Amino acid sequence: MTGFPQLRLRRLRRTEALRALVRETQVEVGDLVYPLFVVPGSGVREEVTSMPSIFRRSIDLLPQETEDIAKLGIPAILLFGVPEYKDELGTSAYQSEGIIQRAVRAIKKSVPELIVITDVCLCEYTSHGHCGVVEDNYVDNDKTLELLARTAISHAEAGVDIVAPSDMMDGRVKAIRQALDENGFQHTLILSYAAKYASAFYGPFREAAESTPQCGDRKSYQMDPPNWREALREVEQDISEGADIVMVKPALAYLDIICRVRNAFNYPLAAYNVSGEFAMVKAAAQHGWLDERQIILEILTAIKRAGADIIISYHAKEAARWLSSK
Ligand code: PBG
Repeated sequence: MTGFPQLRLRRLRRTEALRALVRETQVEVGDLVYPLFVVPGSGVREEVTSMPSIFRRSIDLLPQETEDIAKLGIPAILLFGVPEYKDELGTSAYQSEGIIQRAVRAIKKSVPELIVITDVCLCEYTSHGHCGVVEDNYVDNDKTLELLARTAISHAEAGVDIVAPSDMMDGRVKAIRQALDENGFQHTLILSYAAKYASAFYGPFREAAESTPQCGDRKSYQMDPPNWREALREVEQDISEGADIVMVKPALAYLDIICRVRNAFNYPLAAYNVSGEFAMVKAAAQHGWLDERQIILEILTAIKRAGADIIISYHAKEAARWLSSK
């Protein structure tokens, strides 16, 4: 009595009420994080060409935007900054009056309850566009650590809730945790981009953040896409160094990695639905080639089903509207 015709799995799918009753995965607004790009100047609100509906804004326009985000019920934002100037050592990344530091203060003043996460990396701030100190055409790991730690402290001083190192240097989580603790920021969390792959899906982001490497690529520090066992080692390393939340990035071509990390570690897990994944959906939708709303909700659901607790997505605002009107 275990097979057809007594057993009919379609019984569970006959009506929407039944489907809802047995639904295993539900994306909630509370799972979402919305990335924001901050640029110098005032009154600046410019759309990113390769990311329709995503705008780069100057600091004066952030309070309004973050209030709207909070009203939608989105609990957190992830901030990226384009600095006034770039140099070899990315010094504009760790100044108290830097673009991110000022942006964090402005946001915290207007919407204190919104969780503010900052990307901690040097690539937007260095003239060469690499994520660390370049010597002899190689990104020097250990020299970069100190600069990352300084960047994280300056963000914490500005009032950020979570710092998110995305550089993929070895030992950065430990260096940042130590520096935060020594400076009295025991409560500042670390969300590490633990398994971050050297992916072509970051293309549109690099236009938005002006962070394309001027020579070479990021393959000597970001992960090689064919590897999954190494991803578990990366996550293990970051957890042992004190990461509070770990991340897999990108999300869609890496759902297997999300699933494996979820199965191997009992830590909060974030997944980054990156710029290229967003751009593909927008481009197809603009042509009328797919149903945008359904596709986006399906994508977010798949990322959650794979095991992510937190989904960082440029779709967060539109998804929040749809999820609350369902
Ligand atoms: C900075 C950083 C990148 C992204 C997040 N942080 C770009 C990169 O590593 O080249 C990509 C985000 C996206 O594509 O949406 N290192």
